[in-house]
Amino acid sequence: MAGTFETVGVVGLGTMGAGIAEVFARAGLTVIGVEADPAALERGRGHLEGSTGRALARGKLTEAERAEILGRVSFTTSLEDLADADLVIEAIPEVMDYKRALFTDLDRVCKPSAVLATNTSSLSVTAIAATTTRPGRVIGMHFFNPAPVMKLVEVVRTVTTDDGLAGEVADLARRLGKTPVTVGDRAGFVVNRLLLAYLNHAAALLENGLAGRDDIDAAMKLGAGFPMGPFALLDLIGLDTSYEICEVLFRETRDRRHAPAPILRELVTAGRLGRKSGEGFHCAEEPQSPSPHEKPSAASVAVLGEGAEEFSARLSGAGFKIVDPEGAELVLALSHTPVVERAVRLPHPDRLVGLHLVGDQVAEVASTVLTSPDTARVAHGLLRILGRTPVPCKDRAEFVVDALLYPYLNDAVRMYESGYASIEDIDTAMKLGCGYPAGPFETLDRLGLETVRDGLRALYAEYREPSFAPAPLLDQLVTAGVRSIRDLTP
Ligand code: CAA
Repeated sequence: MAGTFETVGVVGLGTMGAGIAEVFARAGLTVIGVEADPAALERGRGHLEGSTGRALARGKLTEAERAEILGRVSFTTSLEDLADADLVIEAIPEVMDYKRALFTDLDRVCKPSAVLATNTSSLSVTAIAATTTRPGRVIGMHFFNPAPVMKLVEVVRTVTTDDGLAGEVADLARRLGKTPVTVGDRAGFVVNRLLLAYLNHAAALLENGLAGRDDIDAAMKLGAGFPMGPFALLDLIGLDTSYEICEVLFRETRDRRHAPAPILRELVTAGRLGRKSGEGFHCAEEPQSPSPHEKPSAASVAVLGEGAEEFSARLSGAGFKIVDPEGAELVLALSHTPVVERAVRLPHPDRLVGLHLVGDQVAEVASTVLTSPDTARVAHGLLRILGRTPVPCKDRAEFVVDALLYPYLNDAVRMYESGYASIEDIDTAMKLGCGYPAGPFETLDRLGLETVRDGLRALYAEYREPSFAPAPLLDQLVTAGVRSIRDLTP
């Protein structure tokens, strides 16, 4: 019964551990926070005081409630103080040797009935459980950053977990105000398997020069509706943690897309770990780069491609003169596939950019190798006048947003196809773990299975990345004329 968990130990009071301790204390449980040394313990106490202090300042907690929450948490550097805990959750760095050593100690110190949980992001819970004499009482309880905010807890059971324990821990998660999704023990579980592949892919595209850091962040935030861009999120998670998760994923899958992007290694080695070290992809003190407001000097614009008539009408309404491509100072080719073929057919190929409107706010502007910098600048100015954020990028299949989104959707289909998790659980996990407005299967339905399948084919043709090939299930559903993958839910 979840009610049997009253005293909880949290080992490791970094960002995640302190957040987890806060979640338990807010739910009325007694919490024992453990750190390796007094300095780390003080930092952990600081996290908790800071977080509850912010809630107080925002009127989310009263002074009395805050005192009550903090009063439920005691701090110690001795594992022996966990002797009476009903559950101990570990949130130390993602290094298997550290975790195995800790669980050996916890097994010795904790009462036999105690449940030992790991908050590992991707490491094998089975391997951690195997270091103890109670593998049946060891489980994964995976929270998401920031733990007090994100509603998901992945409950990870292994082949040795006692029957019923996953249910008890899921009930406990509900008592904490969280939504549990229970899964088996695979690298990355549901969320990190899908999320880190996408984040790492974004880092690889940045390295390839497809688009800039802030442009990719803006594209995914404003275009895909994600709460944060990939680089802001990598900084939040921590680049060292992200690197380790990718390593673990790669070791299990041998999928090149999981191999950590070299830029992650470089930043981690340089000590730029993200928010926790003050610098990562972004720097704390970095001024927000004001978007340059170039005034478009082009008087005459031509629009090519599907939807050209409608877009021309909008441009006319905004005061632009619509002319033939041959006479235009700026040629906009509405497309999301490479446009250089169109450019080479024009008398002035330097005047053409590819344009992909994403949602209501973003316009991807693809420069070919022939596009002049002036043309790109003029196109950006024009799009700002239309109220869109321009995302400059190279002329590559699916440009930016879809190049990142479609492989993620494909991964979700493969995950479902493998029998690891249900469509509903995958959708719930991505919405509640990452704050996405919709789960991958809801997104697939909205975009259309055929559109995504065709986009994946285009990506595969461009990059020859094996995992960009459409999942067999996706292909079959399109062939069978099935509109919604969610119709497959039993
Ligand atoms: N601790 C406690 N509360 C916090 C917080 C923190 N660190 N950061 C934000 N909050 C609270 C705020 O107080 C605010 O609460 P109220 O609405 O009650 O006032 C709420 O969260 C929203 O915060 P803000 O208005 O300041 O900012 P926002 O609206 O931009 O939201 C965000 C911030 C919640 C972080 C949001 O951007 C988001 O959901 N981002 C995605 C985060 C994500 O994907 N996390 C998962 C990463 S993967 C992972 O963690 C697993 C792993 O193993 C690596």
